[in-house]
Order: sequence, then C-alpha cells, then structure tokens
Amino acid sequence: MAETLNTQFGIKGQLVFNADASGLIVAEIDNVLGSASLCLQGAHLMTWQPKSQAVPVVWLSRDTKPAVGKSIRGGAPVCWPWFGAHATESAFPGHGFARTVPWRVIESGTEPDGATRLTLRLVASDKTRIQWSHECNVDLTVIVGETLRMEMTTENTGSTDFVIGEALHTYFQIGDIGQVRVTGLDGCEYWDKVGGSNLRRQEGGISFSGETDRVYINTGATCVIHDDELNRRIHISKSGSLSTVVWTPWVEKANKMGDMGQPEGWREMVCVESVNAIENVVKVAAGTTHTLIVEYRAESV
Ligand code: BG6
Repeated sequence: MAETLNTQFGIKGQLVFNADASGLIVAEIDNVLGSASLCLQGAHLMTWQPKSQAVPVVWLSRDTKPAVGKSIRGGAPVCWPWFGAHATESAFPGHGFARTVPWRVIESGTEPDGATRLTLRLVASDKTRIQWSHECNVDLTVIVGETLRMEMTTENTGSTDFVIGEALHTYFQIGDIGQVRVTGLDGCEYWDKVGGSNLRRQEGGISFSGETDRVYINTGATCVIHDDELNRRIHISKSGSLSTVVWTPWVEKANKMGDMGQPEGWREMVCVESVNAIENVVKVAAGTTHTLIVEYRAESV
C-alpha cells in the first residue's frame, strides 16, 4: 500500500508514505519551508513545523498512538458532517465520523514557492452511509510550507440539499496555557459550554485559568495566539467558517481523558478551531460546493 502510494504520489525529497506500527499509512512531508505528517485515516494532520520555528506549531500528544478506528489526540482532527454531539442520534460519534475513517490520496504536487500539496478524499462505506446517506465528495487539501493551509471542500453530488456542521479542530503548541492570550474575538457572542450552555459576549482578549469550552458565533475573524514563553504569535485566518471554538480541558478533564500526555501535556496546547456549528451550520444545495479554508502562520517576536 505505502509502496503503491509512493509510486503514484510520492515526491522525491519532499513527500513519502510510510506504514506505522498499527498498519495505518502516514504521509511524511519535509521541504525547504517546513515539515508535517498526516495520517490517511481521518485525513488527520498530526504535526507541522515551519523551518523558521524551533518548536512545532501544531501540538500532538505524547500519549497518542494512531490506531484503526480511533481518533488521534492533537494535530488537526477533521470534524464532519456534524460538530459536537449529533443532533438526534446519541450513538453516533461526537464530531462526526470523518476523523476515524479511511481517506484516499487523489493528488499531490509542489507549489511555486516550494510548499508541498496533498489532497485526500473521504472514502464512504456502508458504515458511514448509515450515519450519512447523502451523495457527496469531501476533499481535504493540505499545503505545507512556511505557512500551513488546509482547504476542506464538501461537494453535494446528489439531488437534495443537505446541512453540515464541520471543523478543523487544530491543537496549537504553546509554552504554557496559564500565560497565553487569544485575541480576535473581542465583542463576539459565544456559547459557553462550561457549566451548562449560556450565551455570553467576549470582552477583550481571552486568557485561561480553568476549563474553557466556547463556541464563538458569527465570526470570520483572524485570531492570534500570543505566547510570551515561546516568544511567538500564531496567526489563524480562515474563510468559509463563521464559528470559532476555543478549548482547553484543564487538569480535571485532561486527567479523565487520559491521552493528553503526562505530565501536564494539556498545559502545552490550546485549541482554536475553525468551525461551522450551532446557528452557523451550512446548507449545501444540490449540485453546489462549500469550502472551509484555514491558514496558520507563526511569527517570532
Ligand atoms: C472541542 C469541544 O471542540 O473538542 C469540547 O468543544 C471537546 O467539548 C473537545 O471536549 C475534544 O473532543 P474529543 O471528542 O476530541 O475528545
């Protein structure tokens, strides 16, 4: 399998496919601008580090191991075709099934600036059709360079409209959760999911002193993670996304989750997710497409 992929889509000195211990295939990208790895199961970007940065920009838990049918902790999970719990079916997986099913490679190439491009398509199966019966294609293109760009396109190939929720649920590497600040959401309304579900309004930047789980709505704004310990800012810009989720589990929830990395791996990450959820779910009319795009950039300060 890896061998065939290398023949068809490998790029000498830039992109190679390897099978890991569990048998899952991981695309390893390393070019003059940056490096990344992406598990074909879930189209799950696991790591990304531009060459200008001494520390990765995307966080991956030390305790996570790719396993068939299981989501990887960290990286950039693809949530689709719903975000959070399914609206009516409690047995369906949280954040949808896209992150735990196989995707296949459909294209690879090099951008004019030397960045590496890889496109995957979700593979539908009898299992996924039970949860989602609509005819569609879901493609994720990842462009790895000095910046990281991800484009997720949902194409409705059927004859009836459908509605999706979705996210690129990225975990960012930070020095310490107690000292970072996230800006870009001043004045936005958000659903606060800690201790019930309450609608509140953000005032100023966000700093963290406990579990935080917020769905900011009606915002396409660029967010910035200000990290004084790692001396950098991470810029998160997006299009085709009107919700932004900011999440950190803090100690109690992280301990319950059990895969956040010991000791205190949770302190070294924050999720700033580009999402369409709650009132921002997206109607994809028959014969049309919808694309969610994110671009991440780390700036040393
Ligand atoms: C966030 C949600 O997007 O993902 C949180 O807002 C959730 O409520 C978190 O805990 C992690 O989810 P999961 O399914 O990957 O453990």
